[in-house]
Amino acid sequence: MPSFPGQFPTTRLRRLRQHPVLREMLQMASITVNDLICPIFVTHGQNSKQPIESMPGQYRWSIDLLPQLLEELVALDIRSIMLFGLPQNKDPLGEDSYSDNGIMQQAIRVVKQQAPSLYVTTDICFCEYTDHGHCGALTDEIGRVDVHNDTTLELLQKQALSHAQAGADMLVPSGMMDGVVQALRHTLDNHGFSHIPIMSHSIKYASVLYSAFREAVDCSLSKGGDRKSYQADHLHDAAQALREVALDLQEGTDMVVVKPIMHYLDIVQQIKQQFPGVPIVGYHVSTEYMMYKLTAKAGLVDEQRLVFELLNSIKRAGCDLIVTYYAQEVAKWLKNK
Ligand code: PBG
Ligand code: ZN
Repeated sequence: MPSFPGQFPTTRLRRLRQHPVLREMLQMASITVNDLICPIFVTHGQNSKQPIESMPGQYRWSIDLLPQLLEELVALDIRSIMLFGLPQNKDPLGEDSYSDNGIMQQAIRVVKQQAPSLYVTTDICFCEYTDHGHCGALTDEIGRVDVHNDTTLELLQKQALSHAQAGADMLVPSGMMDGVVQALRHTLDNHGFSHIPIMSHSIKYASVLYSAFREAVDCSLSKGGDRKSYQADHLHDAAQALREVALDLQEGTDMVVVKPIMHYLDIVQQIKQQFPGVPIVGYHVSTEYMMYKLTAKAGLVDEQRLVFELLNSIKRAGCDLIVTYYAQEVAKWLKNK
């Protein structure tokens, strides 16, 4: 093992070539299942498939029912999933998120066992696990309550390592902490996981479009406030996004996420131009999904055409992959074409 960072490469292009599924996923084409990552919410309890009201067609799955969903996804040729966990207990430090038997660790193991062909990406953040709902550990060190960046980095390292040990194929830090990519890369490399790629949320805007997700994982900020001290401000220009991406690349990220996606296609295009060859992932978020769903359910638009038009625009802007709650339905539509 390297005794100090830098002895071995931090940036490893082979990480992107290492897994055959990932290699195929990165090919260019019109929308296919290879472009899609399907988010899954996993919850504690048994025999439970709770509908998420704000996201018609989406559920919180208990671990014992997961195999049923996985079977459907594999039958639809879905290649990759993104796991989100809802722990039984939330606390100030989100301890479930780095416990060996935490909700995510259990879920990762079940997926790897039941559906070994699926490429498993995992959300790395704290908002699902903390009782206050913030994306990290809080401090009032600077005279107001805020997420403490570097304490959170240490906790994120623990979380990331436990996901890797449980069998995650790729880690997806989503909390916009400074230096998170370097911190995770260092931990992974020092524990024999230098082959595991990082897909960082390089530029995630403080957006109203996550409201449905916050209901889904019950992570509204319990004491009010907002996430503007870590998520980006949409009133800033694209230069800020480019700077975030440049930093993450320097730290060794393998892919970058832009989130939400629909209002930020200009940002995707600029990243594509500025950093050719870097895979970009567009995250079509919960409330974007909800808006389309409700319009379609009201019979106001042809849902399938609406969704394909959207997905094509996301690809055209420069995204290589798309995270969308529509993944399963799109895979069905593709099968019936
Ligand atoms: C956690 C996280 C969030 C989403 C994904 N990971 C929520 C947030 O930042 O509030 C939102 C996803 C969605 O809305 O679909 N950092
Ligand atoms: Zn978070």
